[in-house]
Amino acid sequence: MDLTESKVKIYVMGKEYAVPSNLTIMKAMEYIGYRFVRGAGCRGGFCGACATVYRMKDEYRLRMALACQETVHHGMYLAQIPFTPANKAMYDLERVKPSGNTFLEHYPEIARCLCCNTCTKACPQDLDVMNIVQAALKGDFEEVAQLSFDCISCGLCAMRCPAEIVPHHVSLLGRRIYGKYIMPKSREIEKVVQETGRGRYEEELKNLAEMELDELKKLYEEREIE
Ligand code: FES
Repeated sequence: MDLTESKVKIYVMGKEYAVPSNLTIMKAMEYIGYRFVRGAGCRGGFCGACATVYRMKDEYRLRMALACQETVHHGMYLAQIPFTPANKAMYDLERVKPSGNTFLEHYPEIARCLCCNTCTKACPQDLDVMNIVQAALKGDFEEVAQLSFDCISCGLCAMRCPAEIVPHHVSLLGRRIYGKYIMPKSREIEKVVQETGRGRYEEELKNLAEMELDELKKLYEEREIE
């Protein structure tokens, strides 16, 4: 294969390609002709849809990444995972109350945590996943919510866990309960929610819905950014 300086060699599903070295994995796959029907969402590192596993040539180790964020490297062997099957507890947040056993009742498998730290090593967000699971075992909602604040539920931690724990769903339960029952309420947000319910923004929304696309774009570009 003829490689110019700006290209690297990668392997997708075992086939060799030369792609520009400055592309993300996602863009490189599109460059060689793949079209994402699944396994891509926001393209900005927020939705977790593009979980990817790869290996480098002559290396045993499995590496994890988000395809929309990681740049291609020379000698990358790629496989994208469109979906991570994982046990997800069903609950009604109005009925689930925070207690020392809430996590264990919904996700009893957290008691099997071996503290092997494989989940932490798999996290493309560099979260301390093992300690999120440990905080859940202790029933510490605040710790779970804070440690997992940047979790985007890509599922790579669950895919690698030898004890079949699903840390991304466990931490979502923690953030939901923390947000609903424990976190101090913002009076300002409550006020805005009430005003919205009373129809304060109806007129403004109606005007926006009637605007031409160009007008909307201009408004968006000129908006105030905090
Ligand atoms: S596509 Fe949303 S995180 Fe990559």
